[in-house]
Amino acid sequence: MADGPIDGSNFNLRDEIKAYWSERASTFDLSPGHEIFSEKERAAWHALIVRHLGRSEGRAALDLACGTGVVSHLLDDLGFKVTGIDWAEPMLEHARAKATARQRNIIFRLGDAENTREPDSHYDVITNRHLVWTLVDPQAAFAEWHRILKPGGRVLIVDGDFVNMNFKEQIIAKVSVLFQRLGFASVETARTTSQLLETHRSILSRVHFSDGARASAVAEMLKMTGFENVTIDSDLRRIHHAQFGHLGFWRGMARITQHRYAIVATKERYFEK
Ligand SMILES: C[S@@+](CC[C@H](N)C(=O)[O-])C[C@H]1O[C@@H](n2cnc3c(N)ncnc32)[C@H](O)[C@@H]1O
Repeated sequence: MADGPIDGSNFNLRDEIKAYWSERASTFDLSPGHEIFSEKERAAWHALIVRHLGRSEGRAALDLACGTGVVSHLLDDLGFKVTGIDWAEPMLEHARAKATARQRNIIFRLGDAENTREPDSHYDVITNRHLVWTLVDPQAAFAEWHRILKPGGRVLIVDGDFVNMNFKEQIIAKVSVLFQRLGFASVETARTTSQLLETHRSILSRVHFSDGARASAVAEMLKMTGFENVTIDSDLRRIHHAQFGHLGFWRGMARITQHRYAIVATKERYFEK
């Protein structure tokens, strides 16, 4: 987990992560799994949020590493009062443009999920999707989220292990390559350049969860930070099935078998500093 200067420059790992996502911003929403492409998928996400965070009742939600604001919009649909924070300005520009187009009153601000500068005990719920795997210091981040949640407040994490391929994924990958070689399947084109893929690989090799963010390890760290009722939900089938048609057959198959999960955890109700 190196966060110091690289090659003698002042450009550290956090700067690299920001620059990477800033470059990804213009095409981010084109990918199924990022933006939502059907009402079936939107309903599946709403159901996941309600299952773990309950009905909104106007409660205050903070969507950390909101990116282009997909989850922020889902929370807004459900009636939460939403603030989205991300440290890549180009991502936020897309999030704000969507809020304007959809006439949504969501606040999108530049900020660091590991050091939010938000007041103590301020939010009823915190969400983040696909952030934890790329955190430089997740333990510090979880402590920060615990600090800014109200007592009884909940954090909902949606993430996955994007490093290790389980047996089923390996088989799917091999069969898809074989089918493509034999001409039975079209080659699925990636939305990123090979240079960006290399940057992604390089960043991934240096973050805290460089061996893959397994749900059990993330849950353990949440407990160590003081969160209670830490629950892993590995049943994201409804979402993944809804994404299937837009992902293409092989990527859809892989999505269904990957180690992807939601984790919900609570700040104790009678928390005293
Ligand atoms: C995979 S994208 C996910 C975006 C969004 N949560 C979603 O699911 O559509 C990861 C996002 O995390 C942001 N990010 C990574 N580390 C961050 C940090 N420490 N503070 C704020 N944003 C961060 C990146 O800028 C990027 O927008």
